Amino acid sequence: MDLLLHLLMLVSLLLSQTPLTTSSSSSSSPPYALKLGSSLFVDNKDDVLISPDNVFTAGFYSVGNNAFCFSIWFTKPLSTGSHTVVWMANRDAPVNGKRSTLSLTKTGNLVLQDADQDLPIWTTRTRDLTDSAELKLNNSGNLYLQSKDKHILWQSFGFPTDTLLPNQPLTKESMLVSSRSKTNHSSGFYRLFFDSDNVLRLVYSGPKVTGVYWPNPELRAWDAGRSTYGSERTAAIDTFGRFISSDGWFFNTSDDGIQIMRRVTIDIDGNLRVYSLNENRTFWKVTWQAMAQTCMIHGSCGENSTCSNEPTFGRKCTCLPYHKMVDPTDWSYGCEPEFEQSLCGNGEDSFLHLSHFDFYGYDLKYLPNVTLDVCKEECMNMCSCKGFQYKFDKKQGIFLCYPKFLLLNGFSSVSFNGSLYLRVPKVTLSSNTTKATRELGLNCSGHPMMVELERVYDKKNERGSIKFLLLFTYVFGALEVVCIIYFFYKTRKSVTKSQGYLQAASGFERFSYRDLRKASENFSMEIGRGGGAIVYKGVLSDNRVAAIKRLKEANSNQGEAEFLAEISTLGKLNHMNLIDIWGYCAEGKHRILVYEYMENGSLEENLHSKKLNWDKRFEVALGTAKGLAYLHEECLEWVLHCDVKPHNILLDQDYLPKVADFGLSKFFDRDGRGNSEFTKARGTRGYMAPEWFFVSLPITSKVDVYSYGVVMLEMITGRSPLGGDLSGGYERPMVKWVREKVADEYGGKSNWIEEIVDSTLKGEYDRIRMGNLIKVALQCAEEIKDARPTMSQVVDMLLRGEEL
Ligand SMILES: *[C@@H]1O[C@H](CO)[C@@H](O)[C@H](O)[C@H]1NC(C)=O
Ligand SMILES: *[C@@H]1O[C@H](CO)[C@@H](O)[C@H](O)[C@H]1NC(C)=O
Ligand SMILES: *[C@@H]1O[C@H](CO)[C@@H](O)[C@H](O)[C@H]1NC(C)=O
Ligand SMILES: *[C@@H]1O[C@H](CO)[C@@H](O)[C@H](O)[C@H]1NC(C)=O
Ligand SMILES: *[C@@H]1O[C@H](CO)[C@@H](O)[C@H](O)[C@H]1NC(C)=O
Ligand SMILES: *[C@@H]1O[C@H](CO)[C@@H](O)[C@H](O)[C@H]1NC(C)=O
Ligand SMILES: *[C@@H]1O[C@H](CO)[C@@H](O)[C@H](O)[C@H]1NC(C)=O
Ligand SMILES: *[C@@H]1O[C@H](CO)[C@@H](O)[C@H](O)[C@H]1NC(C)=O
Ligand SMILES: *[C@@H]1O[C@H](CO)[C@@H](O)[C@H](O)[C@H]1NC(C)=O
Repeated sequence: MDLLLHLLMLVSLLLSQTPLTTSSSSSSSPPYALKLGSSLFVDNKDDVLISPDNVFTAGFYSVGNNAFCFSIWFTKPLSTGSHTVVWMANRDAPVNGKRSTLSLTKTGNLVLQDADQDLPIWTTRTRDLTDSAELKLNNSGNLYLQSKDKHILWQSFGFPTDTLLPNQPLTKESMLVSSRSKTNHSSGFYRLFFDSDNVLRLVYSGPKVTGVYWPNPELRAWDAGRSTYGSERTAAIDTFGRFISSDGWFFNTSDDGIQIMRRVTIDIDGNLRVYSLNENRTFWKVTWQAMAQTCMIHGSCGENSTCSNEPTFGRKCTCLPYHKMVDPTDWSYGCEPEFEQSLCGNGEDSFLHLSHFDFYGYDLKYLPNVTLDVCKEECMNMCSCKGFQYKFDKKQGIFLCYPKFLLLNGFSSVSFNGSLYLRVPKVTLSSNTTKATRELGLNCSGHPMMVELERVYDKKNERGSIKFLLLFTYVFGALEVVCIIYFFYKTRKSVTKSQGYLQAASGFERFSYRDLRKASENFSMEIGRGGGAIVYKGVLSDNRVAAIKRLKEANSNQGEAEFLAEISTLGKLNHMNLIDIWGYCAEGKHRILVYEYMENGSLEENLHSKKLNWDKRFEVALGTAKGLAYLHEECLEWVLHCDVKPHNILLDQDYLPKVADFGLSKFFDRDGRGNSEFTKARGTRGYMAPEWFFVSLPITSKVDVYSYGVVMLEMITGRSPLGGDLSGGYERPMVKWVREKVADEYGGKSNWIEEIVDSTLKGEYDRIRMGNLIKVALQCAEEIKDARPTMSQVVDMLLRGEEL
């Protein structure tokens, strides 16, 4: 019965798919126009409209598993493999990956229909009286519905989402709305729009509060250089990079003049930026932005948290002490108190002093020239007071007091001379202080990276088909054979199709085994081995020199799609201190990755090289830390490196470091090595963190921090961490030796640095920065994982040391 039902569904599927091949995509090349009465089908990935110059594509764009939005994007992917989407029809309501259609009805209405849903998801509500309308995508990226008399019935330029293309006007009817997050394209909280006084503004419109943050809300429109008389309300950027708005505001991008392509986008962090595509159309560079400091954008870290500027990531959010994130995957929801809020007026509260913290807005009162005690009392007497800002005004020479009812727009910076006094119950303050300083990161384990739409497609067909089944059981007996043959044909075809899609999504090239064998001269130029792989040098057919890494065959019993799914994440990681992955090969038992080739080999080969002078060593330390910090912060929990060692830090022609081999450790723990000590442990002896040896200890990004510390100490001292016996605990003898030398400093010995540092350097280094680097490295190599800093803190410490 079940089988028959399946067969039945197959047949209905067959029937429903027949028109697909005869409709819009009858020719092999994609259509340039959609005619009345025809449709684009989500199931057919060739069902797209392409602009005459092939720069833009319009079609169904995948926003998650089985979730699609009808979109316009740049045809050519960036070097990261991702496509830049410039417009979406249904960003807030994705449709299914099967049987969804975009149709131009006979009456001239454009309708986006989800599978098995009666009402359209989206429509242009247009009507064509000439019987001749066509949907086309032009070279400017405008999708438009035009009748024969050249009348434009509808155009995507009139309904922007988060991006304006050159010559696309923002009008009084339209606004730009940011996306929710990198992976969630639905409408976010930030908007660019013409306000009721005709001024172009950026506003944060969150779940609870709304606030304008650009132009500076403390200035009146005129003082910000805006005119309130431009009542026609229009703004656009032209092809020369000149942005002109009707409120009198204008700017030129930093690269003004004709460029390949620009776009104006309101990003997920609320900043408005202009981007230009580089010559090779491989990445976007920022050529203008509205806010120099991302932290000044309202609401960016949510309630009860503060924002600080980070050298590497731009912006960093932190919960206030005694608070935790409401949604550990999304900062915009802010933080909630971990303490019970006391009832008002019972005097059980106290204040926690936090210096260099600024909170903008939401003041209950403004009290100039009062003492701290008066300010405290004022706040204590107001039930809604959550804390107050207390700062010194240099101009007037007095202290200002601002009690607050909402702690939003927090900003912390050492350059800010003012304090926040946070209202906290006395019991909380006195009970435990360890909680106060706890660092909170994003919880990535529950991170919804993808939207999943689950729907049953065949409900109607099934119900109707029971009768059908009873009537025609016999007929199907005969049809069965035909169906099965067709089924196999069909599924095989769809498998190759889905792989093609995966490939497009993951962005890197698929190489054939033959090409790679040829490139590497039959795998003859070995440049390294270890960790379940051998690396060869090779020259690709386009003359690029590549490192070709053959994974050992133990890992090859997984399918290509599975392999690709795992490595595609690596392809999306893109950082100047991480090695670039160009492509892969998965044929039969072969599993090969193709990387960029690094001229100067690994740090291991250069440890004792005179060429690696102090400046270069410092750059290696900083670059490696940045690369690892990026890996850890990207929220891909499994992209712990787990095997940081000098062999895996490669050096380019300028001896700048790139971390290699990340993300692969996952592949190697499959082959269940028998050795009990190694069933859990990964990595290389000498560089492995102590927690690898204790089953009870969790493995976190701190294992990479430990290895980094050991590698840095090796680079500084020239001594190997291998060898020596471990009888005195898990501290490596080399690390212990350095720790003892550093302890000498406090014993009054002044030449400790000279004793530690590798003699190859001949004393040519900056003593203060070297001392800083040694101490940072030692802190990284702490036995207790919580005593180690995070990689981004390491970057901070190294940069701060540089300012000394
Ligand atoms: C594309 O369409 C827009 C709006 O209709 C129009 O202003 C522009 O000139 C068109 N561009 C091209 C290259 O046809
Ligand atoms: C922008 O460029 C145009 C010409 O390219 C120039 O006339 C104008 O003064 C520039 N504006 C600014 C603000 O630099
Ligand atoms: C563009 O690509 C070519 C070869 O593909 C390369 O030689 C050139 O350096 C690239 N230019 C940029 C700016 O990346
Ligand atoms: C922020 O903290 C206050 C108490 O200090 C609390 O009332 C409010 O709900 C918190 N905000 C969020 C988003 O939890
Ligand atoms: C501030 O208050 C003190 C004492 O009340 C007063 O002497 C002083 O003049 C005030 N300063 C200003 C600038 O108002
Ligand atoms: C910072 O504030 C203190 C008072 O808290 C004041 O004495 C000092 O002059 C201020 N410094 C600057 C640079 O504003
Ligand atoms: C603080 O909390 C930690 C762990 O939660 C506990 O070990 C410690 O004893 C507490 N300290 C005080 C003073 O209560
Ligand atoms: C992270 O979130 C998941 C699911 O939301 C939860 O099970 C887990 O305990 C959280 N981990 C931490 C460290 O908060
Ligand atoms: C995307 O964001 C919208 C709006 O905040 C939310 O309703 C939706 O659940 C989000 N989708 C995912 C997959 O997180």
